[in-house]
Amino acid sequence: MTKTVNLKGASSEITLEVRSGTEGPDAIDITSLYGDMGVFTYDPGFVSTASCHSKITYIDGDEGILRYRGYPIEQLAEHSDFLEVAYLLLYGELPSAEQYSGFNHVITHHTMINESLLHFFDGFHYDAHPMAMMVGVTGSLSAFYHDSIDIQNERHREISAHRMIAKMPTIAAACFKHNLGEPVNYPRNDLSYVGNFLRMMFATPCEDYQLSPAAEKAMNLLFILHADHEQNASTSTVRLAGSSGANPFACIAAGIASLWGPAHGGANEAVLDMLEEIEDVSNIDKFIARAKDKDDPFRLMGFGHRVYKNYDPRAKIIRAVCHEVLEEVDTHDPFFEIALRLEEIALEDEYFVERKLYPNVDFYSGIIYRALGIPRNMFTVMFAIARTTGWVAHWMEMISDPKQRIGRPRQIYVGEPKRDYVSITQR
Ligand code: CMC
Repeated sequence: MTKTVNLKGASSEITLEVRSGTEGPDAIDITSLYGDMGVFTYDPGFVSTASCHSKITYIDGDEGILRYRGYPIEQLAEHSDFLEVAYLLLYGELPSAEQYSGFNHVITHHTMINESLLHFFDGFHYDAHPMAMMVGVTGSLSAFYHDSIDIQNERHREISAHRMIAKMPTIAAACFKHNLGEPVNYPRNDLSYVGNFLRMMFATPCEDYQLSPAAEKAMNLLFILHADHEQNASTSTVRLAGSSGANPFACIAAGIASLWGPAHGGANEAVLDMLEEIEDVSNIDKFIARAKDKDDPFRLMGFGHRVYKNYDPRAKIIRAVCHEVLEEVDTHDPFFEIALRLEEIALEDEYFVERKLYPNVDFYSGIIYRALGIPRNMFTVMFAIARTTGWVAHWMEMISDPKQRIGRPRQIYVGEPKRDYVSITQR
């Protein structure tokens, strides 16, 4: 039986259908609200608004649950690898051995970028932030594939998705090399997705990179954990940009721009800045007090989440792996100690308990990246490489949704009412 709710206005009453998913809260379908009653809904930050149906990722924020296509993140983190997860997100099912090998082959053979694209880097200052370069260079991919960006063509969409997943590590490593003033490394087809990326980052013409299985494993895990997170700000940006029919490369560039903000993917870089500023465990109380002070804009970076009102399951996994990685690369990181103690103090503090503020995915990820030799300004780029998979999966889902329309929110106008133009001499 169809569930409904009645909404009573001053002079009329309407019946609205309630939509249910496989799991999660129901949603009242208000599509007809404006037509029937002449009113909008108001929900800044989309706190209570579902913008689409999606089959890709499920989150239960109260229970701390995250699943890709139904598979618990903990199981994928333990047993899967990034390309298998990418396949799962794109196509909805785990691949057979043959499908996996085909996908791996396709992604591996799309990793090179057009040589002309490399010249773009010459235009950037040596210290350009890598995320700035990522936005520009990814967007400019649209200029290279005019023959295959018909978004109504399913095969074109698939080719674009493969290209983006494949080329993102190559572009990211080129950003890093540009900052260093070193020549770029071309991808190598005999390496894994993650292994290839690490080599493009760290090899030089003078010395090849000795791939460490510990580094490969840790990076693979971080990529899996960051691969998708349903309708977060950057994914919603990709969907909104794509809803106008814009080409996929431009849409992903928009997603990268949104990800960059410190409230979103930029938080991993901000966490390390914060830990550095805290400097010593003895200073933690001061920073906790600042985070609680409403007159101080400071927030505990890597803490809190719009959806999770429980421990972020990704943070739980990363926290455990931090110990292993630091041991394996034989590094003692004082930042890790500060982070552990900070978490302990915050989780007992009434302010954080009351507001259900827990460590999120970004709280510990930077400590692993640091141990792997990734510089701080590249942390959000790591996130972007992994999230590209989620972005393209959502973009493909959106384009093939028959209910898809251009995204166009409304507003409550609070500006001046009508007034007449006054000539400049009379103002
Ligand atoms: N430190 C101190 N107070 C906080 C924090 C924090 N990190 N996060 C939220 N609060 C407080 C906030 O001041 C508010 O208090 P009050 O009710 O007294 O006004 C309450 O908690 C609710 O916060 P909100 O800003 O309304 O929550 P939101 O859902 O709009 O924002 C958030 C979520 C992630 C932007 C926010 O928690 C935050 O700024 N965290 C720090 C940045 C961060 O770690 N971002 C990464 C998010 S996870 C990865 C990703 O999305 O990329």
